[in-house]
Amino acid sequence: MKLFERLQAAEDHAAQARPPAEAPASSSAPAESGAAESGAAGRSSRPPEEARESESESLAGGGDALTRLKNSTAAAVYERMGTRLNDPSLSEGQLNAMVRTMLSEVVAQERVPLTREQRLRLIRDVEDDVFGHGPLQRLLEDPAVTEIMVNGPGRVYVEQAGRLVRSAAHFESEQHLRRVIERIVSRVGRRIDEASPLVDARLPDGSRVHAVIPPLAVRGSTLTIRKFAAEPLRVDDLVARGSLSAGMAELLRACVEARLNIIVSGGTGTGKTTLLNVLSSFIPEDERIITIEDAVELQLQQDHVVTLESRPANIEGRGEIGIRELVRNALRMRPDRVVVGEVRGGESLDMLQAMNTGHDGSLSTVHANGPRDAVARLETLVLMAGMDLPLRAIREQIASAVDVIIQLTRLRDGSRRVTAVTEVIGMEQETVVMQDIFLFDYGAGVDLQGNFLGRPVPTGTRPRFADTFEELGIVLSADVFAGLSKDHRG
Ligand SMILES: Nc1ncnc2c1ncn2[C@@H]1O[C@H](COP(=O)(O)OP(=O)(O)OP(=O)(O)O)[C@@H](O)[C@H]1O
Ligand SMILES: [Mg+2]
Repeated sequence: MKLFERLQAAEDHAAQARPPAEAPASSSAPAESGAAESGAAGRSSRPPEEARESESESLAGGGDALTRLKNSTAAAVYERMGTRLNDPSLSEGQLNAMVRTMLSEVVAQERVPLTREQRLRLIRDVEDDVFGHGPLQRLLEDPAVTEIMVNGPGRVYVEQAGRLVRSAAHFESEQHLRRVIERIVSRVGRRIDEASPLVDARLPDGSRVHAVIPPLAVRGSTLTIRKFAAEPLRVDDLVARGSLSAGMAELLRACVEARLNIIVSGGTGTGKTTLLNVLSSFIPEDERIITIEDAVELQLQQDHVVTLESRPANIEGRGEIGIRELVRNALRMRPDRVVVGEVRGGESLDMLQAMNTGHDGSLSTVHANGPRDAVARLETLVLMAGMDLPLRAIREQIASAVDVIIQLTRLRDGSRRVTAVTEVIGMEQETVVMQDIFLFDYGAGVDLQGNFLGRPVPTGTRPRFADTFEELGIVLSADVFAGLSKDHRG
């Protein structure tokens, strides 16, 4: 953090120039820095009233006095900055300069003896609050944290390496949390208040933010941040993590090159968008790609890409442009490929029709727990288009449009795996007929830490679309479809 570094440099300079008479304040530094460390991790769970009682107590007494000083400093800076803090016309640089001046004035006015560590911590905490995302700042900066969930001021959970854990970070009060939320949403030109208590937005760095405040969120404001991976996972990363096998990766690449229509299916946060991004990376350079998403997440490397993003209704409830409208428009833009981030409504009908009328090679994702469930889900979504189609007609559309369903599952050990690659063959009477090409080998069991030992393995069935590969001259390794063998079981 630039400002922090500048302040630290200034501090170092001041410390060198400081006359020895001031030394006693820093003599307790070692013990203090320890207290300050632990204070930061659990930043005082005592209520503010209790902290206020110790008004006269020396700072050497512990973290509470420091917390109180931090709160009063932050409050003073907030008061002086007023609405300028959330003014989107001010650049970060201008804001930094203003707050820096104010912060040093306020800290100087507080005639409290502080050790150097305390002073730096104070400045950093206030700065995190004022500029950044308060107690969330460090979680946002931590690359190991992929998701942050705040359930009211006292509870912050994070996802690390696929697992959900409670974080020591917490907010001082509901008001403190609200300030951070307001700051996040106002910086992206949105607002949150009693009149519109829900916001779904994208941060400038691409991270997805969702916030709900009371009265909708009954136990306090709730914030969910899906951090944007600056370096999205690539096919090799997925193979290295055991999400895909090498043979499966080879098959999926061939499916994309052969312009099969592919649906990625999975529950929330199972890695659908990540896999869609990987599949899109297999699209040849010379094709025109149109991507359609609610919030842009895909990061295609090709040159010829048109990126479309839907728009929510404004405060008056007008101006909404949904995925469906974008899909219809995309078809008039001479696409070679249409990639829809997720189908969750009537657009699924337009998507299926596009797949059936020459726009093959399209890719999308759907929220479902298995390949068969994905088909059922698509049926429901098509009904949402309100065309009153008979179920059989809908199934026929699905059966002839979709060629492959790739199922993702988040296993108990936190890992995300492809648990099925399924070919959609056609209709037999009333049912859509499918066959599995790859399945996850649950039979391999778990190790002592509870990690699954299995991998996705071929079922031994040769898909019908393998003939298409041959016609197109796409050659796969001989053993891609070979059934369960010893070495596959690892
Ligand atoms: N195969 C994988 N192995 C490990 N982590 C993964 C894998 N795939 C995705 N992730 C991580 O999981 C998180 C969720 O991924 P992603 O956004 O792709 O899921 P999603 O299914 O699209 O979620 P949503 O349902 O919210 O749209 C991200 O942080 C991503 O980096
Ligand atoms: Mg997604």
